[in-house]
Amino acid sequence: MQYDFDEVISRRNTNSIKWDCAEAVGNLPLWVADMDFRVAKPVLDALHRRVEHGIFGYAHIPDAYYEAVIRWFERRHHWTIRREHILTTAGIIPALSAILQTMADQGEKVGLHTPAYNCFFLSTRNASRTLQEIPMVSRSGRYEIDWQVMEERVQWCKMLIFCNPHNPTGRVWSKEELRQVDEICNRHGVFVMCDEIHCELTFPGVEYTPYATVATSDNWCVCTSCTKSFNLAGLPIANIVVPNDHIRARLAAAFENNRVGDLTALSIEALIAAYNESEDWLEQLQQYIYANYRYMCDYMQTYIPVLRPVRMEGTYLCWVDIRGTGMTAQTLCRQLIEKQHLMFNPGEMYGDSHYVRINMACPRSTLQEAMTRLQTFYNDHISTLKTS
Ligand SMILES: Cc1ncc(COP(=O)(O)O)c(C=O)c1O
Repeated sequence: MQYDFDEVISRRNTNSIKWDCAEAVGNLPLWVADMDFRVAKPVLDALHRRVEHGIFGYAHIPDAYYEAVIRWFERRHHWTIRREHILTTAGIIPALSAILQTMADQGEKVGLHTPAYNCFFLSTRNASRTLQEIPMVSRSGRYEIDWQVMEERVQWCKMLIFCNPHNPTGRVWSKEELRQVDEICNRHGVFVMCDEIHCELTFPGVEYTPYATVATSDNWCVCTSCTKSFNLAGLPIANIVVPNDHIRARLAAAFENNRVGDLTALSIEALIAAYNESEDWLEQLQQYIYANYRYMCDYMQTYIPVLRPVRMEGTYLCWVDIRGTGMTAQTLCRQLIEKQHLMFNPGEMYGDSHYVRINMACPRSTLQEAMTRLQTFYNDHISTLKTS
């Protein structure tokens, strides 16, 4: 089936954080990481059928659920997941808190490549574990791991939070890079929590490698979810794959203690329909997001040259270098709201005040409107500063 990602669907008054929270009212929001696209038809149909039934009691996870997850990763990513290795949770971030409590003791160090998704900072601090930042380097606008810095810092860590593909830099780690992460962490006995929520959102010609397929030990867990790629964040669900029996038993107990293991009836139906019947939607989405990225890069290069998007390989979150503006990200984002009613995420949230994060998962016309507002802001407030 052919989908129309150009269709503009108002999300106002749907209790959307992105569009309806107090800060977003009256603004054009290209921030919070969900998409402004209607979900795939098979997902909608499955939800309609389930809603029509009219009773929404506690949900049991059927065989069909596990079969959908296993078949999807086998077929698309050549990763064979054993059913007994899967723990289900209502989201990756709820699971992360329990994983942190289980795999590191209070005060122990948890490694994190920075910049990083904001919840990784928050969850680690909330769990009273000590964050060990491992800064990445940007080479010609493309982020890379600094292996020497990683080696120096990770050796003091009990656990590493790793993000593959990476939010916010848009890197899709190569097999070779993943092998190196595995090798270093093994050498130092570091448990790897690999968050692969963005794994379907790769650009044309770029292949995602599941960490599980290169790992040489079983001292890790991989967190997957259909919510980011199929636009189902409001129906939370995640699969935490844990190959080691002992670790899995401990994590299962922690999920139980934290009550993060219960799924909703609707999430289960949505996942099955997404993985079993919605691959065509996903493939069209990938093309659309890549075209949005190309459009934005070309636009900025031509009209707003002080903004430099990084060289990404995946995700729909574009990390843009704003050093040329001479402003911090917070200042720039505040001024964009005041003067153009345009919202991005300031880089401070992710550990770098020289960048903003722009959510490109919207119809092209929305992105065009955002670029026009950005250009007006640039013409009125920045280019004049630069030339005076
Ligand atoms: C890397 C990463 N992990 C996890 C999440 C959220 O996961 P969940 O909604 O399953 O808690 C996000 C959302 O943006 C993300 O970017």
